Amino acid sequence: MTVEFLTLHSRHSTLVLECPAQEAPLWRYWGPRLPNHSTPGTDLRGTRPLPSFMLDLDQPLTVVPTFGVGWFGQSALLAHRAGLDFAQAITQCEVEWTTPGSAVVLHLTDAIAQLRFEVSLALDVDTDVLTLQTCLTNLGDKELDVQWLAAGTLPLPGDAATVRSYAGQHNHEFLLQTDTLGRSQWRRENRRGRTSHDCFPGAVVTTPGSTEHSGLVFGAHLAWSGNHQQTIEWLHDGQYQWQMGEWLAPGEGRLAPGNSLHTPEIIATCSTQGLNGLAANFHAALRARMAWPGGQMRPRPVHLNTWEAFYMDLVPGDVMALADAAAKVGVERFVLDDGWFKNRHHDRAGLGDWWPDAVKFPQGLGPLVHHVNALGMEFGLWVEPEMVNPDSDLFRNHPGWALQIAGRPLITARNQLVLDISRPEAADYLFGKIDALLAAHPIRYLKWDHNRDLTTAALAGGLGGAAYRAQVHAVYALLARLRAAHPEVEIESCSGGGGRIDFGVLRYTHRVWTSDCIDAMSRVQIQHGFGQFFPPEILGSHIGTAPAHTTGRSQSLAFRAAVAMTGHLGVELDVRHLDESTSSALSTWIACYKKYRDQIHHGRVWRGEAADGLVWQAHGDADDLLLFVYRCQPTNHRYTPPLRLPMLDTSARYQVEQVVAIAGEGAVQSPAPFFTTLQNGGVALDGAWLAQAGLPLPRATAETCFIVRLQIIRT
Ligand code: GLA
Repeated sequence: MTVEFLTLHSRHSTLVLECPAQEAPLWRYWGPRLPNHSTPGTDLRGTRPLPSFMLDLDQPLTVVPTFGVGWFGQSALLAHRAGLDFAQAITQCEVEWTTPGSAVVLHLTDAIAQLRFEVSLALDVDTDVLTLQTCLTNLGDKELDVQWLAAGTLPLPGDAATVRSYAGQHNHEFLLQTDTLGRSQWRRENRRGRTSHDCFPGAVVTTPGSTEHSGLVFGAHLAWSGNHQQTIEWLHDGQYQWQMGEWLAPGEGRLAPGNSLHTPEIIATCSTQGLNGLAANFHAALRARMAWPGGQMRPRPVHLNTWEAFYMDLVPGDVMALADAAAKVGVERFVLDDGWFKNRHHDRAGLGDWWPDAVKFPQGLGPLVHHVNALGMEFGLWVEPEMVNPDSDLFRNHPGWALQIAGRPLITARNQLVLDISRPEAADYLFGKIDALLAAHPIRYLKWDHNRDLTTAALAGGLGGAAYRAQVHAVYALLARLRAAHPEVEIESCSGGGGRIDFGVLRYTHRVWTSDCIDAMSRVQIQHGFGQFFPPEILGSHIGTAPAHTTGRSQSLAFRAAVAMTGHLGVELDVRHLDESTSSALSTWIACYKKYRDQIHHGRVWRGEAADGLVWQAHGDADDLLLFVYRCQPTNHRYTPPLRLPMLDTSARYQVEQVVAIAGEGAVQSPAPFFTTLQNGGVALDGAWLAQAGLPLPRATAETCFIVRLQIIRT
């Protein structure tokens, strides 16, 4: 019998599905690139001898494994119609190529349960990134109640070994958690109503022997800013299945006859170049999706954010003086954080009343914006549109706009409630207020915050169903509406630091506030985790003060700057009061960032952790690399081991030069002549030597950074 095989190739990966006309497409392969025309060509359904005392039906993994008709694993759909139609199975499959060879939509019908799935798969030839999405339509004449609909189901090989996911909390996002895969199901769920600090919607699966630089690894991420769920489950044929999707609150998946449920996208990829190969694919995929004002990213301007300098104690004269001092050290965008709007003197009042506080800014924001612009800086403004304080005009006028459940007490967090912005009148109100600010002043940037989880979240003023899903779609719509009206404005996604970082919100935004923790030592780890999925140009990273407000720890300015400059640099300290030498050192670091930002923000990033308390990353390409080596812990070696740089071109010779004197307190202990030369013109070394034997490292105290540029010598 002839069967249709569907093969998608990208540069380094291949995906093969077997598509019988009257069944769900079977997953046959997702992994490293196979040669063209290497699909089996013959029906593989007859190739598995059936186990004893089991069904006389072979049921391998499909793109939509469904419950009740022979599949016992995790189902891609859990749904019923008032208790009926609880079992589903595909009875017809039609393949529609949307881009021949790389993108396809599978139209799958279940004629018995009266359902249709549209599964979209697109494999990007250049980035090796597979985008997967599912749409379910209720073809029956009664309501369908969907409890779970996977955005996609992916196969993983039987030797998948560990899963690296990210836990965390406010002030410590992207905390790596590594679990060993086995026969128990691995599952992560988030029900906080936003992407969350503690459960990132994505993970990386390793195979034995894979490292940062080599070996087969798989990664997937759900582009969604709400509740989510992912599972990895061992299957009886020895492989695993990986499912990801939106976690639906009870009732959120009710589908009237004829209606459809669209899942968010899964962004998935595999690489034989280890964790760094995977990171490069994710970075390239995000870069291709970003919607920059004017269509292109311009050099990421240095920010000054007022939060840690003033908190909410904004006095216009002081703010202007801070702007003066900021301009002097080289800041390019001045961002007025929380505290500027009506009655916002503390966090117990004001959210919702989005116009300048008449006491603090009697003439509005105009004079300040003008002052900032006259200093040559752009002006940015903090807002938290989805929130309301009970002590606000907005809440007093519209108490029913806050998410709530009738009869239950309102639960505040940081003294605030969440607005139901899926109500058109609430969304219109917010659009009107923000639009008026953007129209009245040349504001080029919004820091868009979201400082709490969702609870008691019912629609219709507390009388309706769960609002989680509607809320995410509503914030996307509001962001899109504002962007359409003000396309020149960039937006940062903040959520108590890094509580809303995902490819979904990044369709509408241009930077994320990675963490409220700007202690440089904590940031090394946070930024390292972040870098697995996200590129450096969207990573908000600020030079804070010492001691750090969130940890009480102190690091030298040089170390703080060397950590912050690998992202989108900002300053978050009161630069008015720096002594002359600190201010000049800060200016030098800002100038250094400006000199290298193109290299930091384009090209690849290689990351690694070496024995002996070192974390490093290199930005650029094999021709020209900027290498940052952070010594986080004091050495426990008498002689510091060299650092191997496997990404270098082993047939080339490199000029290696130290970019700035070693950054940090204490600096180099017992300098050796090699490092003196490195600072004064540099040395030439073979790529092969640096890749295999390694780059000699200075012996330095902890909390220091060694920054080196390696350029191929062309003769
Ligand atoms: C959140 C943000 C901070 C700051 C405050 C203002 O915590 O993460 O950066 O903007 O809100 O209230």
